[in-house]
Amino acid sequence: MRLKRTNSCGELAKEHIKKEICLMGWVSSSRDHGGIIFIDLRDMYGLTQIVFDPGHKKKEHCAAETLRREDVIAVKGKVRARGKGLENPKLKTGQIEVLVDEIEVLNKAETPPLEVEDRIEANEDVRLKYRYLDLRRPCMQHNILVRHKAVKFVRDYFDNLGFLEIETPILGKSTPEGARDYLVPSRVNPGKFYALPQSPQILKQICMISGFDKYFQVVKCFRDEDLRADRQPEFTQIDIEMSFIEQEDICLVVEGLIKGVWKKILGKDVKVPFRKITYQESMDKYGTDKPDLRFGLKLVDVSNAVKKSSFEVFTNIIRGKGKVKCINAKKCGGFSRKILDELIEFVKIYDAKGMAWMKVTEKGLESNIVKYFNEKVQKELIKVTDAEKDDILLFVADHKHHIVDVALGHLRNELARRLKLCGKGHSFVWVTDFPLLEFDEDEQRHVAVHHPFTSPKDKDLKLLDSDVEKARAKAYDLTVNGVEIGGGSIRIHKPELQKKMFRILGISDKDAMKKFGFLINAFKYGAPPHGGIALGLDRIVAILTGNTSIREVIAFPKTKNAEDLMMETPSDVEEKQLKELNMKLDLVKKG
Ligand code: AMO
Repeated sequence: MRLKRTNSCGELAKEHIKKEICLMGWVSSSRDHGGIIFIDLRDMYGLTQIVFDPGHKKKEHCAAETLRREDVIAVKGKVRARGKGLENPKLKTGQIEVLVDEIEVLNKAETPPLEVEDRIEANEDVRLKYRYLDLRRPCMQHNILVRHKAVKFVRDYFDNLGFLEIETPILGKSTPEGARDYLVPSRVNPGKFYALPQSPQILKQICMISGFDKYFQVVKCFRDEDLRADRQPEFTQIDIEMSFIEQEDICLVVEGLIKGVWKKILGKDVKVPFRKITYQESMDKYGTDKPDLRFGLKLVDVSNAVKKSSFEVFTNIIRGKGKVKCINAKKCGGFSRKILDELIEFVKIYDAKGMAWMKVTEKGLESNIVKYFNEKVQKELIKVTDAEKDDILLFVADHKHHIVDVALGHLRNELARRLKLCGKGHSFVWVTDFPLLEFDEDEQRHVAVHHPFTSPKDKDLKLLDSDVEKARAKAYDLTVNGVEIGGGSIRIHKPELQKKMFRILGISDKDAMKKFGFLINAFKYGAPPHGGIALGLDRIVAILTGNTSIREVIAFPKTKNAEDLMMETPSDVEEKQLKELNMKLDLVKKG
């Protein structure tokens, strides 16, 4: 390189006028106005207009004529004010331009397969294949910058509170977060495998037993599970663990962190403490354990109100111990038959058999089923649902309570989407008192709702011997706008209780020792009471940058198929590599 960069493309302003500067960057666009060439030169800091005037420098102007988008150049020249009326108030550098004296072409570019422009959105596969071009787009650079700032804030925040960042191994042992493990074969131990950590769960607990009573780590976790917009096979957690604390202490630390990050990145004041609702209340009112509290549309149990109707679909279900719940969609009485049919199809996705509806008019309730509801029942319905003229009541009934809640929970979000009720704010809520266990129909055994190291609530301990499904856990999730951004618990720290938990989960003492013996053993040598939480960094940054997919805030994410299209991985390995691992491929055909 002949020239030396003096400034970035995002900083020159009026005070630099008449200064000799040198910029380096990419040709973003080029315009020829009556022989004078204007180029927008781009780097990660912004755009600067540079000018090639044949009357000023002929050779340089000739060179500019051959420039194409994404060529990398260095230019030396003088900053000058833009002509009257040609300023661009939207650009930080919009008051000035640079008249070029010298140019050095640092590299030529072929025609890029995607436009390096925010406004022009390419197909996601193309974006991922040419991620280096996609990442050049200002919005992507912004996302990565926000991520950096957030992580820097996190590290400073914990450091200030006396937390230590302790790294835990990537080559580890299977932990029970509930997803499938990624396995890595060991060359020196033929036939044996490491598992990539689904989270550092057990090791952070071991750190507590080691006496480091405030641990955090910004850490990669790996889970082989079906991917969605908010799930990646490798993702980053802000992992936290503390000793000698209660749930409230964890909440305080996390609320301080979120408040600080929101202030730092968005300049917004988040109100703390966050609202807390129990899992039960969340399921009852919102039909989900990650409620979006930016809007109402609460679920109302109308089983009592409608049990005296003659509508057999409802009465049969209630008699069979099922339930009927309803959402009062305020001022939506004008919903057309077409919309209602769409909503009926929508709830069926979530296993509901259908959706009944009643419009509220001046004359009372109206629909094809109201004839089965006498005046008294109608009055009661109107009362419990707080129904007024022009509202519409949407009902789901089922023998399985869970289906009613989940279907209406999704319907609630769908209504909010259609009615644009969400707004721009962030509504944080802690969901607490999760059930300790749930019954897994496929495995025909109880599984932990959070993970097997989560402590039951003290007053529910006795339920472990009588009615385990009723036992609640000292577990809590943090949710914002319907997205779960964190989950944690107070842990079991006594070996007997831990062993009992494994037994309830159908894990024999022998298997428990084989898988988690090191933790059970560690508990024997003085384990402090402890607990923690892990926050999903990718999800937090997606929310901070207004994205719905975490792929937008990860520099090199994987597709829904868990592939990296740029690196073209996963990929074949050489025979020699398999041999070194004492392995031979013998793929079993599925299905
Ligand atoms: P949990 O499994 O709830 O808890 O994970 C914590 C948080 O991590 C984020 N997350 C994900 N983000 C992107 N892609 C994924 N595949 C993914 N899976 C989870 C979510 C989630 O809330 N060891 C426990 C924590 C603890 O008990 O301290 C754990 O990992 O935001």
